[in-house]
Amino acid sequence: MIPWIKGQVSRQAHVDLPPNTFEEEYARSGFSGKYAHLYRSAPPVGWTHIEGDLKPRAYDIKLRSIKSQHLLEGRMPLLGNQDVVVSIQPLDKPMSYFFRNADSDELYFAHKGSGRLETDFGPLTYETGDYLYIPRGTVYRLDPKTASEFLLIESASEFQFPDKGMLGQHALFDPAVLEVPDPSLGVTTMTQASSYELKIQREGQITTVHYPFCPINTIGWKGTLSVWKLNVRDIRPISSDRYHLPPSAHTTLVAKNFVVCSFLPRPLENGDPKAMKVPFYHSNIDYDEVLFYHAGDFFSRSGISHGMLTFHPQGIHHGPHPKAIARTNQQQNTNEIAVMIDTRYPLKRLEQSNRIEIEDYWKSWM
Ligand SMILES: [Fe+2]
Repeated sequence: MIPWIKGQVSRQAHVDLPPNTFEEEYARSGFSGKYAHLYRSAPPVGWTHIEGDLKPRAYDIKLRSIKSQHLLEGRMPLLGNQDVVVSIQPLDKPMSYFFRNADSDELYFAHKGSGRLETDFGPLTYETGDYLYIPRGTVYRLDPKTASEFLLIESASEFQFPDKGMLGQHALFDPAVLEVPDPSLGVTTMTQASSYELKIQREGQITTVHYPFCPINTIGWKGTLSVWKLNVRDIRPISSDRYHLPPSAHTTLVAKNFVVCSFLPRPLENGDPKAMKVPFYHSNIDYDEVLFYHAGDFFSRSGISHGMLTFHPQGIHHGPHPKAIARTNQQQNTNEIAVMIDTRYPLKRLEQSNRIEIEDYWKSWM
């Protein structure tokens, strides 16, 4: 489609904006559909008050002082809809039971700690920065070696890798780096018990099944479906020296009605002083956006630190903080590590999210 052009605009998106303007990308389908660039005389986040429920929100997992009331130890669901539930899960001692999620595929992201994941396919060790994928129906148990904190993404549909398109099949990471478990490396560290508990989640309810033997007892397996792990250090992000790439360039996994992206250390747009280095303003017309800040320096956001999670729902703008725009000229690289979950349908704030919400986050652009 040929774009219409009215008034003062830049020749190309995200480059050489008209003087004293702020660019907003107003776009369908998570920036891949029809679009308009709006050049505004003030940033759309320059509000003074917000009355009502729709506002940018932030959560800090360091604030969790009240014990989670979830049926599973420590699991604290924060946001969810019919497609996906986002939780945090601290774990400082081995699980005393085995678990099978019959509702969802699970994707853990290890924010802190290290340890062992025991599964029907064998054990894997884990460390900070690992994604751990557990397909729906797999029995597993986590045995932390050091106190661990996870971001947990439960998906009602199967996680898939995105189509790499023009970048080729080895882009972002070579699938050969995925590590799968080997049952010859042992079964469980659970000391000899006379009875083993398996908790099964189905339609949100837990059923406990008791066995006289360990429910993980596979001696071999073959096939194309397995648990796997992927550390973010093995993801090699793409960047452009002269063009600010959209978040979709950082997609790690896709599922029905949501995507998971990894923002990783990379050079900024240093090849043209007129190219934007910070994200453009946007209001997520078709997607809710959740960002978990794992490590590094989040230069486009002030007041954000490790272990925080922001929630930018559809319909209200966000973009760089004013101080960040001033800072960007000195930056040549970003060293941030963050996990983003973009959902096609609105996320509900779940009951326990109130406990760790940072009330004044929406004021941070003022
Ligand atoms: Fe965004």
